[in-house]
Order: sequence, then structure tokens, then C-alpha cells
Amino acid sequence: MTDVYLNRISRVQGLMGDLNVDYMLIGPTSNMFYLTGKKTVVDERLQLIVIPKKGMPVLLLPEMYREKFRELELGGFFKLKYWKDTENSYSLLKLALAERGFKVAVDEQLWTGHFLNIMECFSKAEYIGASGILGLLKMCKDPTEIELMLAAGKIIDEVMSQMVDVIRPGISERKVAHLIETQIREAGADDIAFKPIVASGPNSALPHHSPTDRELKAGEFVVMDFGAVYKGYCSDMTRTFFLGKANSRQREIYDIVKAAYDAGYKEVVKGKKIEDLDLAVRNVISSAGYGEYFIHRTGHGIGIEVHEDPYIMGGNTNVLENGMAFSIEPGIYMPGEFGIRLENIVVVNDNAPLELNKFPLGSGLTN
Ligand code: CO
Repeated sequence: MTDVYLNRISRVQGLMGDLNVDYMLIGPTSNMFYLTGKKTVVDERLQLIVIPKKGMPVLLLPEMYREKFRELELGGFFKLKYWKDTENSYSLLKLALAERGFKVAVDEQLWTGHFLNIMECFSKAEYIGASGILGLLKMCKDPTEIELMLAAGKIIDEVMSQMVDVIRPGISERKVAHLIETQIREAGADDIAFKPIVASGPNSALPHHSPTDRELKAGEFVVMDFGAVYKGYCSDMTRTFFLGKANSRQREIYDIVKAAYDAGYKEVVKGKKIEDLDLAVRNVISSAGYGEYFIHRTGHGIGIEVHEDPYIMGGNTNVLENGMAFSIEPGIYMPGEFGIRLENIVVVNDNAPLELNKFPLGSGLTN
């Protein structure tokens, strides 16, 4: 397992060399997990990986994490430096960074408070974001990562099947969301990937609705969007169900969203441009006359984080590469009336993409 992290660090250092970056500073974020396999509690204490362009990375940690990280030290691929709560952690940083007036890539998710202190210590340095390097590496998943993401997907497939029996007129959005959270944990997940979205009736027209006490009603749509974290990797899926029998307009719009997903799925081919995938999805919706009601990008990358590179949207001229994992999630949102979104995670695999969600995509009108 340590080989995986050694390999990731050396790829980071290779890219740092190409970009003339002298140091990279990584906080207790998904990047730290990617490079060490360790997750910690994020708080005001400085926790930092200092990666030099060449040589062994240094991990700066509060003393209370000594045991947790010991194996990395024993493995001999990180130098560990601990500071006591009564010490100034930034003075240790001065020992770890040898020069002045250099270029530093910083984890964008490091707390601004920490970053301000770092900038004060090294005022002459040039700072850039680390995602230009790490985003690139994390984007393409290796087979082990895909296995974990499949397992995370399986958990929410199971929970979605359970929810089909739960969503009945009279139950509140909040109650359904609570059950989703409980069942995700019950099914063996580390955690939920994000607060579940349960949106009924007119609330379903809000893509990121937070569940309320509103009760589900017959003759309405319900959008459920949730994800699980399994061994550090996320899943994410959205289904929209109709309670009762949908009318022809409701059916028509549901079918358009489904067709938009299918059109996107067909574009998941290694070498194709990402913006073309977005366009294929968008075209189905706009040519049906609902373009102005599809108010977000087509999808987002997913892995250790539920939203990460690559973002599936217009203007992203990068091409699809094997191992990229992302959502395709078209939606049509009719303000004040209802909204419909369908979402699966797909992984690029030459021209035979892998879908990480197995719960039937177009089954929402038969409930
Ligand atoms: Co999503």
C-alpha cells in the first residue's frame, strides 16, 4: 500500500519540477488523504505536508497525532515533525522550508487563517494553487479507487431501493432525509457524502433544496439526491419519482431528462472533448424547448471529494481520459411547479463506460 503513496508523491514532484514549483503545502484535506491514506480532524491546529521539489516530504503535525502517523515515519517516506500546543507551529515551518523568494503551491482548501500566517513567514514567496498539479493526478482513478467507488455506489443503490417504499404521501422531506442518512450508515458507509436532498412538489424545482417539514403529496414529483463515503471514496446518485400517475406533460419532461442522460452517456468515450459531452446533454433539453430550465452544468468529477475535477461543462476543452469518474446529471426545473433530475456516476473506459450506479435510471414514473 505504501507503494501507492510513494508513487503519488513522486508524480507530484515530477509535475512540480515541470512547473518550477519549489514547495507544495498540503493541508488536512482530501489531498492529504490522497497522499498518505490518513484523514484527521480539521481544526485551528496547523497540520501540513511540505513537499519539496526533490527529497523527502515533511509532515508537520500537532504532537497529539504522533501515534496516528507513526507508520508513515516507519515506512521511511515522510519525515515527521511534531509541535506541542504551547509551541509556535509556524516556526517549525521555517525550519522545513529552506529558502526564500521561491514558488509555493498551496492546497486551496487549507484554512485561510493558516495561509495568512504562512504568507507572513514567507512574504517573498510566489503562491499558486496546488490543484493545477493534484487535480490533474486525482482526476484519473486507478483500479483500486474504482473498486471503492463501486462499493460506495452499491450502498446508495440499496438505500434508493429502500426509499422507494418510504416515499408515500404524508411523510416529510426531513423524515425521508433522516432515513436516508441512517440507512447509508447502516449499510456500512463511513459517512454520508453530503446532506441528502429530498425535494417534493414545487421544492423539486430548486436543484440544491434543503429538506423541510413539507409532506410528500400524491400527484407530485420527489427528487432524492444522496451519496455515501466508503473507505474514503464518494458516491452520488439522483432519482426523481412521481407519486401516483403523472400527466402527459410531466411524462414528457421526465422522458426528456432521461434522453438527455442517455445522450451524455453515449459521449463517454476516451479522447472526446468534455465540453462536447455537456453539449450533447444540453442539446436534447434545448431542442425540446426546455433549455432555459436546465440551470446548471452537466456534471462534476467525484472521488475522495464529492465535487472535484473534471467539471462537465461548456468551456472545458480537456479530453476524456480513462479512469475519469464524474456525474452526468441533467435536470429541468420549472419554477413554482416541479423539477426533475437524474444522475449517475460514470467512469471513462475506452468506449465502454462503467456506470457506478445500478438502480434503474428511468423507473421514476412507475412508483
Ligand atoms: Co452530483
